[in-house]
Amino acid sequence: MNMAGKQFKIALGADHAGFVYKTRIGERLRQLGHEVVDFGTYSTEPVDYPLVGFKVGEAVGSGEFERGVLVCGSSLGICMAANKVRGVRAASIVEPYSAKLSRQHNDCNVACFSERLTGWDMVEECLDVWLNTEAEGGRHARRVKEIDDYGVETAESAR
Ligand code: RB5
Repeated sequence: MNMAGKQFKIALGADHAGFVYKTRIGERLRQLGHEVVDFGTYSTEPVDYPLVGFKVGEAVGSGEFERGVLVCGSSLGICMAANKVRGVRAASIVEPYSAKLSRQHNDCNVACFSERLTGWDMVEECLDVWLNTEAEGGRHARRVKEIDDYGVETAESAR
């Protein structure tokens, strides 16, 4: 068990197609010492992935949670939903190098995984990389801010 990394307050969610991985991810995160709140869904009964993506997105975008982890069948739809919330930088993660870059360059705060397309061992590996990689800042911070600022009306832009 790796207790060396930083500990986060993490919002967790999935639709019915991600329920099994969500359960496993929750167990793993808690074992690693993270504080996890499960935003559902709580069974394999079909639910619409946008609703869960928005809930976890709001939890992270509001600043109440430092990170979010989402799972759906493909990782794609729930990621699109979460990214509608201001302050969320969600990425669909399928292999370790993009997991690393999502943190280093994009300061990704919501990781989205696929239960139907990605094997469990790969999800575990990617999750560990994503949890333990710092954002690099510098020129990347400016670009991340450009994403966060999009659509925000400032006093200057209103003139
Ligand atoms: C549900 O069947 C599926 O569409 C959903 O889990 C996800 O893959 C959507 O992007």
